[in-house]
Amino acid sequence: GTVNVIDHPLIAHKLTLMRRKETSTKNFRQLLDEISMLMAYEVLRDFPVQPVDIETPLEATTGNVIDGKKVVLVPILRAGTGILEGMLRVVPGARVGHIGLYRQPKTLVAVEYYFKMPDELHERDIVVIDPMLATGNTARAAIERIKELAPRSIKFVCLLTCPEGIEGLHRAPPDVPIYTAAIDRELDEHGYIRPGLGDAGDRIFG
Ligand code: PRP
Repeated sequence: GTVNVIDHPLIAHKLTLMRRKETSTKNFRQLLDEISMLMAYEVLRDFPVQPVDIETPLEATTGNVIDGKKVVLVPILRAGTGILEGMLRVVPGARVGHIGLYRQPKTLVAVEYYFKMPDELHERDIVVIDPMLATGNTARAAIERIKELAPRSIKFVCLLTCPEGIEGLHRAPPDVPIYTAAIDRELDEHGYIRPGLGDAGDRIFG
């Protein structure tokens, strides 16, 4: 599987502000929202376009459009919802699926508590979103579950990960490309990404 680090001065700047412990919940949410729009731009870079005949005020010509309905954004609850709004602003026609997973604090095993996807996934492209890819247990569980519905393609987008997270996600489904704003140094013994930004869910929701 490929790992795409979306390396852009705007994203680096906003991510740096998000990492700071002084950053308030309000600002953290706002920055995540802005980064999400910028990341959506890169994540959809290879998305297919269809030619359409149009008329400008001066003449007939051909343009290209994407079929937004084919995109399904799937936030992993809770923290993934912090990325959803920003991405929807860029792809307003996208469909949305939800998967609820929480990490058991001691074992770090991902436990599913909610699952609802749009119909006909076999003709849609899935973008699973979650700010943190730490052990990879959560993302792997989400992707294995979504794969049962045989979508046309799956991508995984996070804000932050670490070598252990990439390895953890690639262990089971090796063909899911990862998009991230940064790869941090390591995973600590409590399952936190270091240096990281703390607990994303807590920083978004308080
Ligand atoms: C966090 C985070 C990811 C997961 C990453 O969620 O938002 O979903 O942990 O960890 P992993 O790669 O080791 O599985 P958490 O379980 O804290 O739930 P929340 O989003 O509801 O806060």
